[in-house]
Amino acid sequence: MNGGEGAYEKAAHSVVVAPSALLAYTRDILRGLGATRTDAQQAADHLVSSNLAGHDSHGVLLLPYYADLIRRGTILLDTDPEIVIDRQNVLVMDGRFGFGQVVGSVAAALAIERGRKHGIACVLGRNANHLGRLGAYTTAIADAGLVALLFVNYQGGDQNVAPFGGVERRLTNNPISMAAPSARGAVVLDMALSVVAEAKVWLARARGERLPEGWIADANGNASTDPDDFFAGGSLIPLGGKEAGHKGFALIVLVEILAGVLTGGGVCRADAPPVFSNGFFLVAIDVEPLLSVGCYAAEVETLREYVKSSRTLSDVDEIVFPGELEARSERQRRGDGIPIERVTWEALADLGKQVGVEFSGKTQ
Ligand SMILES: NC(=O)c1ccc[n+]([C@@H]2O[C@H](COP(=O)([O-])OP(=O)(O)OC[C@H]3O[C@@H](n4cnc5c(N)ncnc54)[C@H](O)[C@@H]3O)[C@@H](O)[C@H]2O)c1
Repeated sequence: MNGGEGAYEKAAHSVVVAPSALLAYTRDILRGLGATRTDAQQAADHLVSSNLAGHDSHGVLLLPYYADLIRRGTILLDTDPEIVIDRQNVLVMDGRFGFGQVVGSVAAALAIERGRKHGIACVLGRNANHLGRLGAYTTAIADAGLVALLFVNYQGGDQNVAPFGGVERRLTNNPISMAAPSARGAVVLDMALSVVAEAKVWLARARGERLPEGWIADANGNASTDPDDFFAGGSLIPLGGKEAGHKGFALIVLVEILAGVLTGGGVCRADAPPVFSNGFFLVAIDVEPLLSVGCYAAEVETLREYVKSSRTLSDVDEIVFPGELEARSERQRRGDGIPIERVTWEALADLGKQVGVEFSGKTQ
């Protein structure tokens, strides 16, 4: 029972690659596309870390998409994020359409620095390109000893969610992530506010698979398991699904206001600009001014142990605490390598050829 990519565990992955070789290949392709050394390294790190965490939908699968964004001038290569408002513990950043991974990392570093200084800090951002896997930023903040809350919306590109009770796309599946430090690795929530992230529909299409029921509706609002129905004007179903989608829908609207209105990044609208960007609302809360680190850690462990001690359903081996799946996946894939579906591997090879980069590692 895994709400994440466990559904794909049986998929026929045809290539297994060592993380370091995949990282070098990804970085070199990004360099070939014109990214600076630092940006290429940071974006590649982020993509491969998503594969390591088991979130293949936000890993190197996205590279051809990013290449397209670079070629269309949506990701700008000669730009740096800028702080446009600085009130010490409230900051607004303009990502100036650079790599989302670079903007997100700068925001996370600022949140840590100002959070430690003031006890709590809020970093708002607009005009970032695709931020990728949000858990990467919140986990970095939690690993530095602060609790992180991150809410993201997006501008431009296609809206992908119909409002609860509606048929037409009017919203996006705004993702959120929260992470808290813990002695046994960060406790992390990281999810889109639709039943699943759109990239998982792409991944299913790439793998030629049908979708589990309840992920999407077709263009007439009827439930569908065919990924092509989504691309033919269908929509992602808000978190909570058919019965309780009003909860996901309301969350999406509120995140739209936090990440789209307060940041100045913009909200879903009929005349939305064609250029894609993520807006984000990031809060970092330092634990130390509130209670001793020892007391905090003990309480979190009490909670973990109590929650995990529940008897399980007959088809479930154990209760999984938020963030454990990603940490386990990372440990396993660091040792065994990262499985990549053939179609994605071929797309990377194609892209590599276009920019004169060859994979120099071994594949299994
Ligand atoms: N940048 C963007 O614009 C954007 C947009 C949408 C999604 N995303 C990213 O997409 C990724 C995937 O999102 P998703 O909604 O498909 O996530 P998901 O459904 O795979 O996982 C959601 C959360 O549930 C946890 N989880 C899964 N199975 C579990 C179990 N059995 N027990 C306990 N916890 C479990 C996961 O660890 C994760 O924290 C996220 O990393 C998100 O940040 C990014």
